[in-house]
Amino acid sequence: MNTHCSTDDIHAISATDPAGVGTAFREALAHFCSGVVIVTATDATGAPVGMTVGSFTSISMDPPLVGFFAGQNSTTLPHVIADGRFCVNVLSEDQHLLARTFARSGADKFAGTDWTPATNGSPRLAGAHAWIDCTLDQQQSIGDHDLVVGRVDALVVPQPNEPLVFHRSVFHGLRAHA
Ligand SMILES: Cc1cc2nc3c(=O)[nH]c(=O)nc-3n(C[C@H](O)[C@H](O)[C@H](O)COP(=O)(O)O)c2cc1C
Repeated sequence: MNTHCSTDDIHAISATDPAGVGTAFREALAHFCSGVVIVTATDATGAPVGMTVGSFTSISMDPPLVGFFAGQNSTTLPHVIADGRFCVNVLSEDQHLLARTFARSGADKFAGTDWTPATNGSPRLAGAHAWIDCTLDQQQSIGDHDLVVGRVDALVVPQPNEPLVFHRSVFHGLRAHA
């Protein structure tokens, strides 16, 4: 017997109730935990741009491809596409404030943020858990997001530290189970 959910807890997805679908979708999908990255690139003036992303994933080893989904209203997305290069900064556990900063659209996200240019020119954020430098391979519109696929040019693990995790709108660290 399922003792964890009553009929009140069940959110049936109904096409006639778009608002309800949105709430149920967000609430249920928030139970899926993810790592957190900041995707960075440069704009036409050479200024750094970036956004917090939880939808990052590895895609292929041969050729080496990774990808993420960016909302079509993201201000960073057009710069990533125009630049044709980006850096995936896998965040460390202590970078949760940075994750919040880069989740604010249009803000001056790089004020007070240390970074160095990657081999491809995209910003590598200081203190990250890993850097993955990419060349844009393909972009595809799916629903209200764009899938952005990058071919991996360089991979760097700068220091042995712990990753940042996101679950139900809260940032966490990892707890290992033997
Ligand atoms: C933990 C976390 C994960 C996120 N993951 C994504 C994501 O995968 N795709 C996305 O488009 N936005 C994601 N966001 C929201 C963006 O960071 C946010 O919309 C940001 O304002 C985009 O900035 P921009 O409009 O300056 O590009 C995430 C936010 C947080 C806090």
